[in-house]
Amino acid sequence: MIWYPYEQMKTMNPPYRITDAQGVYLYTEDQKLIDSISSWWSMIHGYRHPALTRAIVSQAEKFSHVMLGGLTHEPARKLAEKLKNWLPGDLDYSFFSDSGSVAVEVALKMALQYYMNRGEKRRTKILALEYAYHGDTFKTMEVGDDEDYHFVLNAYGPSRSVIHIPTDIKALETAFAAHHEELNCLIAEPLLQGAGGMRMYDISFLKRARELCDHYGVLLIFDEVATGFGRTGNRFVADLVLPDILVLGKALTGGYIGHAVTVASKKVFEGFYDDNPQHALMHGPTFMGNALACAVALKSIELFECQDYMAKIRRIEKITRRELEGFSDPRIREIRIMGGCVCLEVKEAGILKGYQQFAYERGVFARPFLNYLYAMVPYVIREQELVRVLDTMKAWFLR
Ligand SMILES: Cc1ncc(COP(=O)(O)O)c(C=O)c1O
Repeated sequence: MIWYPYEQMKTMNPPYRITDAQGVYLYTEDQKLIDSISSWWSMIHGYRHPALTRAIVSQAEKFSHVMLGGLTHEPARKLAEKLKNWLPGDLDYSFFSDSGSVAVEVALKMALQYYMNRGEKRRTKILALEYAYHGDTFKTMEVGDDEDYHFVLNAYGPSRSVIHIPTDIKALETAFAAHHEELNCLIAEPLLQGAGGMRMYDISFLKRARELCDHYGVLLIFDEVATGFGRTGNRFVADLVLPDILVLGKALTGGYIGHAVTVASKKVFEGFYDDNPQHALMHGPTFMGNALACAVALKSIELFECQDYMAKIRRIEKITRRELEGFSDPRIREIRIMGGCVCLEVKEAGILKGYQQFAYERGVFARPFLNYLYAMVPYVIREQELVRVLDTMKAWFLR
């Protein structure tokens, strides 16, 4: 029996059974649904894209996987090379892993060990943001701030290594002033905090964070697992403010296979590169650099570049703003739009009860959580399809 995520198995509604998928559509036996959340924000090119399928099949005909311990191969080498050339600054060193959570764990381990390797043993603390979400493994839960998901951690009492602050420059400055000697990193989902409620904040916060990290010698980590590949309307937020470590996942493979990467700058890499074996990064997920994942990631990036995906995302944002212009309802607290993300935050979670089935009946797959009704559509969506998604959201309040 399948044990489903984030659900009370005893009381959950049965999940919709998908029999096929193509483009922006999921098919059940009796319905054709626009996937308004791109399979947890990853399926940016839509389902069953022929070029992506071909990339996987042709790699599978050679080999699907070989480990990176003592072995290497062209798809991993090419993807690391592509990321080196494509990502901003000197984010040149790619450590692959099998999921976003693991890639964040790797980033946190890198930041801690970077200072341990230098003999700075006091730097054991992490600055993180309120409402952050970085995954469901133990350290990512700890840097996260998501009571609704991670309350089990309360069993351990308050965290001794993580300090949470709001996305407010004064709070940032105060935290640095108080803790800079103990901090090894600041970790943030830049501009858009996803699972914490699609919260959007200003770039000035990140610019100030960069200055303070430089001033106090603290590493800046951007978790762009959700925001990367255009979701905020920027290719990467790292194009605007350069982090020392960048984490990518989800859309890295166009959503086709789970894979992620922790990309380090030259400075971070050099903190590990010496004759002392104890200064090596002791991490190695079995499926890191999986050949199918690397092959499909390369093809996904090629599509993203050649078919001007940034223009597609600008179009999605423009249509979304146009369709929601002037729309309001007393039950809605706020409407937030950024790039390829829209969120209607309602005043009470109960207001969204029944929405999923309502949307299903109108040909849209949606998965609101808590007080958040949102869409993160595949970038290949056509105008009338996007309008349908937005009309469905509005219709819920106009009933
Ligand atoms: C910002 C962020 N970081 C990390 C993760 C975890 O990624 P994964 O589910 O691949 O472990 C997520 C997943 O939603 C995320 O949104």
